[in-house]
Amino acid sequence: MKETVLSGIRPTGNLHLGNYFGALSKFVRMQDDYNCMYFLADLHALTTHPDPKMLHQNVKNILAEYLAAGLDPDKVTMFVQSDVPEIPELYLLLNMHVGIGELMRTASFKDKARKALGINKNDNESEEDIEKQIIGNETNKRVNAGLLTYPTLMAVDILIQKAHKVPVGKDQEQHLELTRRFARRFNSFYGVDLFPEPENFNFTSHSVKVPGLDGSGKMGKSEGNCIYLIDDEKTLRKKVMRAVTDEGPKVPNSPVSVPVQNLFDLMELTSAPDTLQHFKDAYADCSIRYGDLKKQLAEDILKITLPIRERIMEVRNDDALMGRVLKEGAEKARANAVKTLAEVREVMGIHKFY
Ligand code: ADP
Ligand code: TRP
Repeated sequence: MKETVLSGIRPTGNLHLGNYFGALSKFVRMQDDYNCMYFLADLHALTTHPDPKMLHQNVKNILAEYLAAGLDPDKVTMFVQSDVPEIPELYLLLNMHVGIGELMRTASFKDKARKALGINKNDNESEEDIEKQIIGNETNKRVNAGLLTYPTLMAVDILIQKAHKVPVGKDQEQHLELTRRFARRFNSFYGVDLFPEPENFNFTSHSVKVPGLDGSGKMGKSEGNCIYLIDDEKTLRKKVMRAVTDEGPKVPNSPVSVPVQNLFDLMELTSAPDTLQHFKDAYADCSIRYGDLKKQLAEDILKITLPIRERIMEVRNDDALMGRVLKEGAEKARANAVKTLAEVREVMGIHKFY
């Protein structure tokens, strides 16, 4: 029997190169060899209070992007998280075995809590101060409980399908670690072997982290530094040509600055190995022209994104196709979920008398 692969993306905006290399391209490559289930995590999106109309529309947009990137509905189960009501129920049950301390120490929670409270990363607030603000709630700003229990919900998505492999980017590894811990804890508490421990999946030896074009950290929707799969040619070229660099190497074999390394990293993902080597050599002997590097990089990114963009345009108006895919997907996802939930209820003593 094929192993089950499960992953999801929050429908909070169009997909960018980070989502593509960190997640979607892996989804596509895995579809022949595994029993793949990919979903739209609309309940997770609620933690950051999206506009309801946008949220609904984004579910469709991202499904169109899944299909356009090459996911084949005949091979893959695609569904919307909120179409599986067993997920929220298991989320309640699993939360009984999750500590608020371990949730509060999660990096993504601290980040999002900081954002909700309007604290800048560089504001030098200590962890303690932040915790005090979260608990004290002296202002009218609040950190919602859904944000805290985000990892429980994600663990449930994975465990309810008994997934073995979870292709995600590097930033999600801590959540996966928690999922494994919750699975182990549940199994050992009740003396059962109900949940398998899932692992990340990569085709390379390391997890992918796609950098932004602004010289800083990762490419991310909320960072405003994204190249989107749906960007047209002109927009995309403009973004790449505006990417942050530095003054250029003055002496041979100079160390590479972060913004330039980011461009090399993007090139490693999108260009041929000898193209990357050419520019690395040019950097080493100080003959590099960043303009040339960016032009080449834009070309190579376009080779990947333009065909996807064309297919997005075709698929996104095909409501009949998308409706069919999601209906069939929900049925399959629910069938598994109903089964797992019944097992959990039985084990926990929450089952019927009649
Ligand atoms: P964003 O950070 O833009 O909001 P999501 O959190 O919705 O994106 O991420 C969806 C998937 O894409 C996850 O598997 C995540 O690990 C991956 N991902 C997002 N940004 C990047 C990135 N810059 N590099 C690698 N993977 C990424
Ligand atoms: N937390 C993931 C993200 O922000 C999205 C997600 C929710 C997910 N549930 C999941 C990913 C289950 C993999 C498996 O990107």
